[in-house]
Amino acid sequence: MRQKDTIILGIESSCDDTSASVLKNETILSNIIATQEVHKLYGGVVPELASRAHQQNIIPVVNQAIKESGVDLKEIDAVAFTKGPGLLGSLVVGTSFSKAFSLAMDIPLIDVNHMHGHVLAHFIDDEGKEKPQFPFLCLTVSGGHTQIVLVKDYLEMEVIGTTIDDAAGEAFDKSAKILGFPYPGGPLIDKHAKNGDASKFEFSKPKMEGYDYSFSGLKTSILYFIQKQEKINTNFINENRDDICASIQKSIIDILFVKLIKASADLNIKQIAIAGGVSANSGLRSELKRIGKEKKWSVFIPKFEFCTDNAAMIAITGRFMFDEKRFADQSVCASARLKM
Ligand code: KG4
Ligand code: ZN
Repeated sequence: MRQKDTIILGIESSCDDTSASVLKNETILSNIIATQEVHKLYGGVVPELASRAHQQNIIPVVNQAIKESGVDLKEIDAVAFTKGPGLLGSLVVGTSFSKAFSLAMDIPLIDVNHMHGHVLAHFIDDEGKEKPQFPFLCLTVSGGHTQIVLVKDYLEMEVIGTTIDDAAGEAFDKSAKILGFPYPGGPLIDKHAKNGDASKFEFSKPKMEGYDYSFSGLKTSILYFIQKQEKINTNFINENRDDICASIQKSIIDILFVKLIKASADLNIKQIAIAGGVSANSGLRSELKRIGKEKKWSVFIPKFEFCTDNAAMIAITGRFMFDEKRFADQSVCASARLKM
C-alpha cells in the first residue's frame, strides 16, 4: 500500500497539440488539450508555426489543467514532460517550461518518451476497465510511428517491428490528401469508410519479412489508381468517395494485422493492445475485436481521448518513473529522434 497520493503534472508538446494534465495516482483530475488549427491551411503540420502556437498555449493550458484539477500548486509532486520523439521546436517549448516549473517549485523533473506514453495510457484508471497484464503486445500506430511493442513491464519495452518508411497515420493522411481532404485526413477516411464497400477496390500490399511494415507502396498504388481512373472519369473521386475510403482503410488495417497476428502466434502472447492516434480508427477497433474473439485474445482498446496526443499519458508514465526515482536534471534536452 502506498503511503501518500502522488500528484503529477504532465506536459505534452511533441507535435501540434499543447496539452497539460494533472494525475492523482492513476486517476486523471484534468487533461486539457489545445489543438492547433493553423496547420489545416497548409495540408500538414508546419514546424515553425507549431512551436509558436505551443509558446502561446502552454501557460493558459497548464493554468486551466491545474485549476480544473482542484489541486494546489504546492501539492504537485513532480512534473513529467515529453522529451521526444517529435518536432524539436515543439518539444523545446514543453521541455523548457517543465525545467522552469521544476526549478521554481523545487520538485523532480521527469523526462518521458512519447511512445512509452501512448502504450502506458492503458494504465489510466477508467471505471473498472481491465488493464493489460505483462507481457503484452501493443500495436502503436500514430502520425509518426508504427510499432509492434513487446511490453514486459511498465518501463521495460522492446520494439519488435516498425515501419521502414511511412507510418500508418501518414498512410491515412497521404491517401486523404490524394482524395482532396484537409489535414489530418485520417478521421475523414474513417468517416466516409463507414458508408463504403471495402471490397470495391484493391491496392498493392507489401511483402516484408518479419514484423516490419512498409506503407509507401500502398500510397503509390493509390495515387496511380486514382490518376488512371480520373483520366477516364474526371468525377471518379466524387462518385466513389465512400468506397475508395473503405478500400483504403481496409488495406491499411489488413497490413497492420498480418504482422500483429504473426507476432502474437510466434511469441504466444494473447494480451493485445492498440495505441496512438490511428487506434481511434473505427475499422481498426472493430477488426481488433473480431480477430480477438477468433484468436481468443484479451484486447485493450483505449478511450478515444487517450488515442491521440494528450498529457495524461505522459503524466501516467511520469508516475511510474516517479516510483522508481527516474528523474532528469536541469541539463536535460529535448530529443527529436528519441528511441524507445
Ligand atoms: O498519436 P497522434 O495524435 O500524433 C502523433 O504522435 O503522430 O496521431 C495522429 C495521427 C494522424 O495521422 C491522424 O490522421 C491519425 O492519427 N488519426 C486517424 C484517426 N484519428 C486520428 N487515422 C485514422 N482514423 C481515425 N479515426
Ligand atoms: Zn503521438
